[in-house]
Amino acid sequence: MNSGNRFGAHRVIEPPFALPKAALRLDNQSPLLDNEIGIRVESLHITSTSFTRLWQDAAQDEKRFAASIMDIVNRQGKFQDPETGSGGVLLGTVDFIGPQLKVDLLPNDPIVTLVSLAQTPLRLQKINKIYPSLGQVVVDGYAILFESGLWAKLPDDLPRELALMVLDVAGAPAYANRYVKPGQRVLVIGGGKAGLLCMHEAKKKIGTNGQIILVEKDEERAQRARSLGLADNLIITDARNGLEVLRQVENFTGGALADISFNFASLPNAEMSVILSTRSEGKIIFYSMSTNFSQAALGAEGVGKSLEMIIGNGYIPGHAQIALQILRDNKPLREYFSGLIKQK
Ligand SMILES: NC(=O)c1ccc[n+]([C@@H]2O[C@H](COP(=O)([O-])OP(=O)(O)OC[C@H]3O[C@@H](n4cnc5c(N)ncnc54)[C@H](OP(=O)(O)O)[C@@H]3O)[C@@H](O)[C@H]2O)c1
Repeated sequence: MNSGNRFGAHRVIEPPFALPKAALRLDNQSPLLDNEIGIRVESLHITSTSFTRLWQDAAQDEKRFAASIMDIVNRQGKFQDPETGSGGVLLGTVDFIGPQLKVDLLPNDPIVTLVSLAQTPLRLQKINKIYPSLGQVVVDGYAILFESGLWAKLPDDLPRELALMVLDVAGAPAYANRYVKPGQRVLVIGGGKAGLLCMHEAKKKIGTNGQIILVEKDEERAQRARSLGLADNLIITDARNGLEVLRQVENFTGGALADISFNFASLPNAEMSVILSTRSEGKIIFYSMSTNFSQAALGAEGVGKSLEMIIGNGYIPGHAQIALQILRDNKPLREYFSGLIKQK
């Protein structure tokens, strides 16, 4: 058998000792090994923080944006935002299944990868279309999954683009499922895809005595979360304004603050909002890729707060099933997400 390292270390070109996520360059050219999966790539779902940054850098010009994606992939052998280090996920069909792998997959099965693009060897032949409202890029390409790589087969009962959209942020509701308890006060920063999915799951967990407070700078988005029955209280302000968020959270909770907070705002410097507005010994899940570790750690120290701060790991067992089930259970939310796809 001709197999490679199960974590993909054999495809790292530089620097020494790096695993694929930390690598500056991956080998996206060598023939597939017996413990790898080859995927014909149809589209990339670039994670919100990176898409927004690169789209703004390209002055919202499709040609410039496409050129920057091509340039990144050609230089690195993978798509990884050089500034934030994040990637996203891809949708494609299975082309090759290494004979050494015991997986429930067949050639031509449609799958979404659940490991980041930031560690997935990728070649791009062509960029066909860009959908800024979805963060999706339709491409002709080829990707390689390592033995440890995670993937989900696309369900038959949901449109592909919809599944792709929620699977990118599948960890968000899974964190709510794992940590939110009955009766808790939950603070959510950012009412985008991850925020809405998280609020659905949190709502289920808190029961009738709990409370969900959403911070969102866009009033329409915030009101949508309320009309979908997901947020009880809205704070319409910039998430970087920690003191204002604190003032309003104090007001909505009678001074008790949040028991658990989630940060999904796709921009830097939103750490203090959740740190100030979460009660002492409460939990914070930093899911946003814009989170800065030293800002969070030193920021909490600076205001004398003892908190359990959790880095939003992209993988929690069962996360894909949780996210897809929300689409089946919450028809209004599914219709809202479907509407985003229609608007593209
Ligand atoms: N940890 C992981 O494994 C993982 C995996 C996937 C994604 N992520 C990250 O999760 C985050 C959320 O992803 P998503 O797909 O839900 O993104 P999204 O749909 O773009 O949502 C982000 C939300 O944050 C809001 N926001 C932006 N700036 C704000 C501000 N100054 N104040 C208040 N709200 C603000 C946005 O509002 P506007 O649209 O009005 O700006 C939007 O509603 C991103 O950082 C993404 O990279 C993490």
